[in-house]
Amino acid sequence: MVRAFVDRPVDPEVVDRLLEHAVHAPSAGFSQGWAFLVLTGPDDRVRFWDAVFPDRGCAFTHPGIFDAGCLIVPLSHKAAYLDRYAEADKGWADRDEGRWPVPFWDIDTGMASMLILLSVVDEGLGAVFFGIFGQHVDAFRAAFGVPGDFSPIGAIAVGHRAEDVPSPSLRRGRRPLEEVVHRGRW
Ligand SMILES: Cc1cc2nc3c(=O)[nH]c(=O)nc-3n(C[C@H](O)[C@H](O)[C@H](O)COP(=O)(O)O)c2cc1C
Repeated sequence: MVRAFVDRPVDPEVVDRLLEHAVHAPSAGFSQGWAFLVLTGPDDRVRFWDAVFPDRGCAFTHPGIFDAGCLIVPLSHKAAYLDRYAEADKGWADRDEGRWPVPFWDIDTGMASMLILLSVVDEGLGAVFFGIFGQHVDAFRAAFGVPGDFSPIGAIAVGHRAEDVPSPSLRRGRRPLEEVVHRGRW
């Protein structure tokens, strides 16, 4: 993840390629219950930050994030999955949400987001995936007219990399394989 950018636009053709790759992500039942809000104009980007980060004047450790030339908000659409799995080949006509072991709609939208992040690297740019937290979701929806049945799973800031300060979280170190992998049985 990169959290500092040069205030420069991202080539629209690059943005299109990122999105084209995103929609090649796998999705359960090929439901493709995702949507992507793309913000590249300066006014739109300011409106986004005002909604999700209203106190950005404070001592935030990564102020360079606000210079990202492109913001992509991946949104998951649960209803698309309930509809898809109610079809004859899946047969969950009761639309019982208890059937879902985990929210496939969020997983698939996350996979699409990962493809965006990987494609950003291929394009020689930088990006960070970050959360849009509960208390800001309503303001985000209102600012961009997002329907209530689409949920932002986070946001991706994309741009030309500037000198970055690594996240303090990295001090935790990467957990070793021996700790997270269970071979044969738990
Ligand atoms: C679901 C999710 C939410 C995240 N939220 C934030 C966030 O709110 N702010 C942030 O700076 N980074 C956020 N990150 C990035 C992580 O901090 C980062 O991936 C992790 O520290 C490892 O660093 P690396 O991806 O550069 O290897 C998030 C990542 C994921 C997958």
